[in-house]
Amino acid sequence: MRIESTRYTECLGSVRINDVQQVLELDSGRAKELPPQENIAVQKIEEDVIKDFEEKMAIVIPTKDEKLKLFEGVVSGVPHECLLIVVSNSQRRRVDRFRMEKDALNQFCHFTRREALIIHQKDPVLARALAEAGYTDILGEDGLIRDGKAEGMLAAILLAMVAKKDFVGFIDADNYFPGAVWEYARCYATGFCMAKSAYSMVRVLWRYKPKISAGMFFKRWGRVSEITNRCMNSLISSKTGFETEIIKTGNAGEHAMSLRLAEILTYASGYAVEPQELISIFEGFGGVLPMANPTAAKHGVEIFQTETRNPHLHEERGGRHLLVEMLLPGLGSIYHSPLCEKETKQLIINELLQQNAIQPDEEPPKPRLITPLRAINLKKFTAVMTEHMNSYSALEEEE
Ligand code: GDP
Ligand code: CO
Repeated sequence: MRIESTRYTECLGSVRINDVQQVLELDSGRAKELPPQENIAVQKIEEDVIKDFEEKMAIVIPTKDEKLKLFEGVVSGVPHECLLIVVSNSQRRRVDRFRMEKDALNQFCHFTRREALIIHQKDPVLARALAEAGYTDILGEDGLIRDGKAEGMLAAILLAMVAKKDFVGFIDADNYFPGAVWEYARCYATGFCMAKSAYSMVRVLWRYKPKISAGMFFKRWGRVSEITNRCMNSLISSKTGFETEIIKTGNAGEHAMSLRLAEILTYASGYAVEPQELISIFEGFGGVLPMANPTAAKHGVEIFQTETRNPHLHEERGGRHLLVEMLLPGLGSIYHSPLCEKETKQLIINELLQQNAIQPDEEPPKPRLITPLRAINLKKFTAVMTEHMNSYSALEEEE
């Protein structure tokens, strides 16, 4: 793959935020000796190197009642070397949609001879493993994991740790293009390959997000992303004293992290999770508040933003979903950060008022924060989970 070199980097304490890098060539051919000038503006990442990183990476697909055809397409796009982890919160009553997902995955793994794990978010063993390992932050009153994409993601990160992976990447199950899925995984691998720190994150920016309205229109930015990015950049500007537009992926659902970084971040429930990850990095390593982890602070936290070639097309859930479920929690996580000063707060309020998302005297909701995964006793969690691993493996028969 050929990708633009990191040309511009903004620093905030020990956080390095790289500006958007475009993919130039999805397939850059065989490994060859490069003429020395090639590496200046463009980097060629060899296939073998991509595969090496894919091998160390788990790809997590969070899913909840998505169309089975979409799910199957997404699964087929995940590079072979990646460990697939499906965490599903699909319904089991009336129609057992989880069963259908599991059967589809089993069949896929059978014919492609590959490894995958699939687990239901409400799995009682998973909940017990968490409780025994002392990590109860994502458990609900019924003792099972709460609903929500973030909660599912966290469970999957833990499974990636049990599987001894180094990286974890997320790809939504409602994606229409398997080719886009494939590209995301490669972009993650490429980002980790370019990273100098073991604490790194890759966030995807799609080049176009097609909208269907009398023909197809290739829209560059969603409205929610635009507003979230503006507010996040305002927060960064207030700390550096320089206006910036560096953040372009505040809401990126498609993103990946090294597990070393994943385990030290504070998360947020539901759809605030992606913006909150950035906020946690700024809070923990931005140099304004005390450093959250001395080793990570020393190595630095690196953020890559990669612009993919494939357009992003997923299930559209309409305006109200976008506003209430995505914009509001995302801005809430910025607003309630101890880093957020008066001007950014005012900007957030103005944006929300303009979108009719809050009333004049209201504030955005406080995110529900989730303790970093490091708090878990991983040994205990692993012990309970390993005993049942067979029943989660797509290649094995059920117990
Ligand atoms: P958007 O694409 O950001 O608008 O959000 P979606 O509603 O498409 O959700 C993103 C992904 O998370 C999709 O693959 C959903 O199926 C999945 N998802 C949503 N809610 C849950 C949940 O409670 N648990 C799990 N495991 N996945 C979820
Ligand atoms: Co979606």
